[in-house]
Amino acid sequence: MTSSTPPDLALQSLCSPLTPHRATEFETPVKLGVLASGSGSNFEAIAQAIAQQHLSARVEVLIYNNPQAKVAVRSQQYDIPAKLLNHRDYASREGLDRAIVDVLRSYNVELVVMAGWMRVVTPVLLDAFPNRVLNIHPSLLPSFKGIRAVEQAIAAGVKITGCTAHWVVPEVDSGEILVQAAVPVLADDTPDSLHARIQVQEHRAIVTAIALATAQIRGVWTPS
Ligand code: GRF
Repeated sequence: MTSSTPPDLALQSLCSPLTPHRATEFETPVKLGVLASGSGSNFEAIAQAIAQQHLSARVEVLIYNNPQAKVAVRSQQYDIPAKLLNHRDYASREGLDRAIVDVLRSYNVELVVMAGWMRVVTPVLLDAFPNRVLNIHPSLLPSFKGIRAVEQAIAAGVKITGCTAHWVVPEVDSGEILVQAAVPVLADDTPDSLHARIQVQEHRAIVTAIALATAQIRGVWTPS
């Protein structure tokens, strides 16, 4: 039976400030594959939420594309398998995505999370995991799609920006929105200072989005 009401877990996460809760909604943890390119603070937020039992999930594998990415160090700290798939080793985006799909399938991944994945993905990945790929983006979509979203917001002079967790579709930063959080732009903000405050919200939004996505996958919640 499906409901249009978010399960308690997600509802609590959507409230601000977040109240710690126990992830008891789903008996079987959702199997995640995380794609990341850089620092991996969102990856760590997911791993922490799981470790603290705020999220019923398991990160089966991290895939990263930059040999120097700090996210690889974070994955070791959480004992999560990490696979380097360097995009420079592939002749096309589709070739990289085929390799990604092979790794994700070998770990029986159910839900793919692009947590700071700085590559445009192709239908090769999206068709292999239909409606199963999430992304986190540092703006209130549909404003400021694409790269340098924080700089775009400052240049536009908006007073409020934020972050968006959404389903991924072939058109960049355009899929259905799952979670958003607003962040004020301060008069003396630099891209770095604003991005740091947006990231605090990203870390909450990504965890909430995974909980909501899992509820959808398990058929216990459909968005109204
Ligand atoms: C995040 O701001 C995300 O929205 C963007 O890239 C950044 C990745 O940060 N796509 P981190 O690697 O998770 O710290």
